[in-house]
Amino acid sequence: MSLRLRNPFNLLRSHSIALDAGSARTVITNPQSEVLLDEPTVIAIEHGTGAVIATGAEAKSYIGKAPERIRVIRPIQAGVIVDFDSAKALLRSFFKRVCADDGFRLNICAVVCLGVTDLEKHTFIDCCKAAGASKVDIVDAPLAAAVGAGLDIRQPKGRLLLGIGAGLAEASVLCLADVVYSESARIGAEHFHEAVAQHLAARYRVSIGENMAEQATLQLAWAERPAQLRHMTLTGKYFGSGTPCALELTDDDLEGALDGPLASLEALVRKAMDKTPAELVADIADTGLTLYGGGAQVHGLDSALGSRLGLRTRQAHDPAMVSVLGAAATLRPDLDFKKLLVK
Ligand SMILES: Nc1ncnc2c1ncn2[C@@H]1O[C@H](COP(=O)(O)OP(=O)(O)O)[C@@H](O)[C@H]1O
Ligand SMILES: [Mg+2]
Repeated sequence: MSLRLRNPFNLLRSHSIALDAGSARTVITNPQSEVLLDEPTVIAIEHGTGAVIATGAEAKSYIGKAPERIRVIRPIQAGVIVDFDSAKALLRSFFKRVCADDGFRLNICAVVCLGVTDLEKHTFIDCCKAAGASKVDIVDAPLAAAVGAGLDIRQPKGRLLLGIGAGLAEASVLCLADVVYSESARIGAEHFHEAVAQHLAARYRVSIGENMAEQATLQLAWAERPAQLRHMTLTGKYFGSGTPCALELTDDDLEGALDGPLASLEALVRKAMDKTPAELVADIADTGLTLYGGGAQVHGLDSALGSRLGLRTRQAHDPAMVSVLGAAATLRPDLDFKKLLVK
């Protein structure tokens, strides 16, 4: 039997990372905002033995194709851990990829959605610890996103943000580096994919898989018609006959596909504004609405929502990354964002 002795002095040293483990995508950076890992939040596990078969992009490619002995799992949904053991196994494999197993302590600042309960936040912290973290601080997603987007949130000036992740949207009003009001709804990029799949099913009587629905959304869906026509080949099968099909589509074929989700997002923002004190709403008329999260990247979403709401609306630069970049900023003492962490 061999025993590997670790250098005991390493226990005094630590790696610090920022973590955004969303329903669709997990991103890890170092405090300097360099991306160490960017993978789908998906794990493939063997039934019975519980052995990990694949994680991240490889596991995602199994969706809709895996035989019965393999379970393909998305252990985080709408910001909440729904399968603790799978989430732990997935995070452990991600942590191992970004930090050498050198006995150093692993300190994490993790982004957590505002709409989750305290119990769900504690479950998330416990899961990170079970996966190998020594210390876990958390920062609320809208605050992290605002910092990552470079907004000056320390001023007594109201700002409105709308985060559109994979399974959850959060409309938040921020002022004096805090969240004044927030409203969440189960509407996100995954609902865009579903709406696109339903639209195509109704129009062409085709059934498509989850990954193809995401591809069609990314490549063709729009909230405001793009100036240049975009094309893609969609593969699926016809209802009834089950025969395979390959359809040549353009963005014209997706006209109106996102009307339902767009109306829900508009209603969410209106509800948040309705509950916000008048002084802050007056500020927001000036500062406008900032969009972040992967779902904010739908073509023309900023201008479509802007005209529906009558608010100047802009998409944060690199919207799916701003939350993790804000979490990374809290790890740097020189930037003085530590007070944003949830107490
Ligand atoms: N251009 C786009 N149009 C629509 N959805 C997009 C686009 N780009 C990324 N997404 C979607 O955004 C989601 C990932 O966003 P992200 O904010 O990382 O979600 P989460 O943090 O909930 O995992 C994915 O479901 C992806 O399909
Ligand atoms: Mg995210």
